[in-house]
Amino acid sequence: MPGKKGGAPSAHDVVPTPVRVSRVRREMAGVTTLELTPVSAFGFVPGQFNMLYMFGLGEVAISLSGDPAEESRIVHTMRAVGAVSQAIARLRRNDAIGVRGPYGSSWPVLDSEGSDVVIVAGGLGLAPLRPVIYHVLTHRERYGKVVVLYGARGPADILYRRELEAWRRRLDVDITVTVDHAAADWWGNVGVVPALIARAPIDPDHTVAMVCGPEIMMRFTVDALRERGLVTDRIFLSMERNMKCAIGFCGHCQFGPVFVCRDGPVFRFDRLASFFNIREL
Ligand SMILES: Cc1cc2nc3c(=O)[nH]c(=O)nc-3n(C[C@H](O)[C@H](O)[C@H](O)COP(=O)(O)OP(=O)(O)OC[C@H]3O[C@@H](n4cnc5c(N)ncnc54)[C@H](O)[C@@H]3O)c2cc1C
Ligand code: FES
Repeated sequence: MPGKKGGAPSAHDVVPTPVRVSRVRREMAGVTTLELTPVSAFGFVPGQFNMLYMFGLGEVAISLSGDPAEESRIVHTMRAVGAVSQAIARLRRNDAIGVRGPYGSSWPVLDSEGSDVVIVAGGLGLAPLRPVIYHVLTHRERYGKVVVLYGARGPADILYRRELEAWRRRLDVDITVTVDHAAADWWGNVGVVPALIARAPIDPDHTVAMVCGPEIMMRFTVDALRERGLVTDRIFLSMERNMKCAIGFCGHCQFGPVFVCRDGPVFRFDRLASFFNIREL
């Protein structure tokens, strides 16, 4: 497994390495977190993804969602939507899966040191942002205010619920969760996540925003952040587009002038703005 951070792709990068599943956790209906044991130390930076290969079936791009400081575990959270992801969701402890990666750009965790950090996630979009939260909380003294705004469809769809509750108990991080719809026994916020931005403690001149979720949610989130005064070069998004090679060869993930696999998936918004509204090309 390449296990490298950046650099030019080589033939080695397209050969999956078989690894064992060490743990399977059902997060909610259709959503599973897999822990894999790499054959050697596996390093990544928050925002990167792996290609997971089900032997004889195909490959899917899945973000790394574990702690970047841990090199002995690879963690992925995924929704079973099609043939490959459904087959992965059926894996059990000690089964094998092919892995190649890590690939792609990272969230600006180092460049944000000294700034306030606002993390805005919708649904499974919390998975690629969880490594940022781990990193920022491990190095808490390097950052200003840390704000996490998370939205799920309903209370049963809240990802990493126990961790969100644990983070919320800390006094040095501001966590707000909202759901689109809820029954009378939900006492929390109801409404879409971009609506939280108007009343979030954001100082636009000292804040870096990192956003991941469905594209419609990201669109409204960017509008709300800009209304709060954030300039576009302080807003970062992660784009999930269909991928095949993941190393900039096939053109499958082309998005305007960029290849999401090679230039992304994390982009500064001003570099995407002119073609952000265009669906898959
Ligand atoms: C950089 C990157 C990171 C990603 N990270 C994650 C991750 O951490 N977790 C995760 O669950 N997924 C993630 N995805 C999406 C994931 O790659 C796709 O869901 C996967 O490729 C589906 O493959 P499949 O063969 O199972 O389904 P396909 O046969 O490709 O799709 C089956 C059906 O599901 C629809 N579909 C495909 N993807 C999605 C989706 N994401 N949501 C809803 N419907 C979909 C298709 O349009 C199709 O109708 C990521 C994608 C990219 C590019
Ligand atoms: S997936 Fe092949 S160029 Fe991006």
